[in-house]
Amino acid sequence: MRILVTGAQGYIGVPLASMLLQRRHDVVGLDTGFYCDGWLYDDGLSVPPCIKKDIRHLTEIDLEGFDAVVHLAELSNDPLAQLDPRLTFEINHRGTVNLARMCKTAGVSRFVYTSSCSVYGTGSGEYKTEESNTAPQTPYAQCKLLVERDVLALADEAFAPTFLRNATAYGPSPRMRFDLVLNNLAGLAWTTREIRLTSDGTPYRPLVHVLDICAAVTCALEAPRAAVERQIFNVGHSRENYQIRELAEIVADAFPGCKVTVGSSDGDTRSYRVSCEKIHAALPGFRAQQDAASGARELRTLFERIGLSRETFEHRAFTRVKQLQHLLRTDQLDENFFWR
Ligand SMILES: NC(=O)c1ccc[n+]([C@@H]2O[C@H](COP(=O)([O-])OP(=O)(O)OC[C@H]3O[C@@H](n4cnc5c(N)ncnc54)[C@H](O)[C@@H]3O)[C@@H](O)[C@H]2O)c1
Repeated sequence: MRILVTGAQGYIGVPLASMLLQRRHDVVGLDTGFYCDGWLYDDGLSVPPCIKKDIRHLTEIDLEGFDAVVHLAELSNDPLAQLDPRLTFEINHRGTVNLARMCKTAGVSRFVYTSSCSVYGTGSGEYKTEESNTAPQTPYAQCKLLVERDVLALADEAFAPTFLRNATAYGPSPRMRFDLVLNNLAGLAWTTREIRLTSDGTPYRPLVHVLDICAAVTCALEAPRAAVERQIFNVGHSRENYQIRELAEIVADAFPGCKVTVGSSDGDTRSYRVSCEKIHAALPGFRAQQDAASGARELRTLFERIGLSRETFEHRAFTRVKQLQHLLRTDQLDENFFWR
């Protein structure tokens, strides 16, 4: 299958492109390169050719000849999306819907979109299924829902979109992100031997290993069309819903000598648990393999191997909002996040 992966130089994009290449797909990446200053380690992953372009500058000609597009290229977490909500709607909502429209016109028949469990927003303890009410709390999550609605409306016999609502990712990727909760806690545990939660740590979050997300995307691309077209899948495992303070203890256990302290409520209203039964029942070949405890141990092994320093852990290139702020402050990006 000839596949275009947008955001191929990001946290998920790098291991995903490598996995698709290993499965003998013909892969091309596309990325504007916001985070190219950061590459944490080399593991001999295969990297596809990559077009350096903003998705807002794509034309139908760029999309011709592809059987599928996997769309990852967005402002991809809450703090980043808060930097400029107007731009978040321009890139994440309108940019994505426009890309999907162009895919349809260019004859790309499969479109896999990386949505997010953050669309559920809040909950009172029940496990959210794909049928549950949504309550997005931030522009990032609002955009994810708007994209699902508008791209679903484009579906027809020639254009089959699939929506993967990913849990919060963790785990190693050369294009590491230390702004993801488990990765951040592991980095703190390694560099300071202390996890000091500024909040009370009571909110729930579903977690998923980055390679399980890559496997879900791969299965969605390779599944018979009838199994995935117009479908929404929560991506993760139902047992992998944790309170943040529980997660802090799990991470501390993987880093001997690490202490955990808990603060008071910080008013963060985002808390939800997610059921991932549908994806295991309905997406052929998919099984989430990893859990948070083994992910924390895997990160400790990596940090030992590369000798992760505090300076590298705190480097802007591994924390998205710091990197974008740096590119703006140094005038490398203009106010619309285009390169100058
Ligand atoms: N990582 C998670 O926990 C998680 C969870 C749920 C959903 N997702 C979604 O998965 C996708 C990928 O996430 P990630 O963690 O790999 O993000 P990332 O920020 O690491 O990577 C995104 C990549 O897209 C590129 N990009 C951003 N805007 C672009 C634009 N306008 N044009 C071209 N390239 C652009 C960036 O340079 C970057 O390399 C995102 O849509 C994100 O919302 C991620």
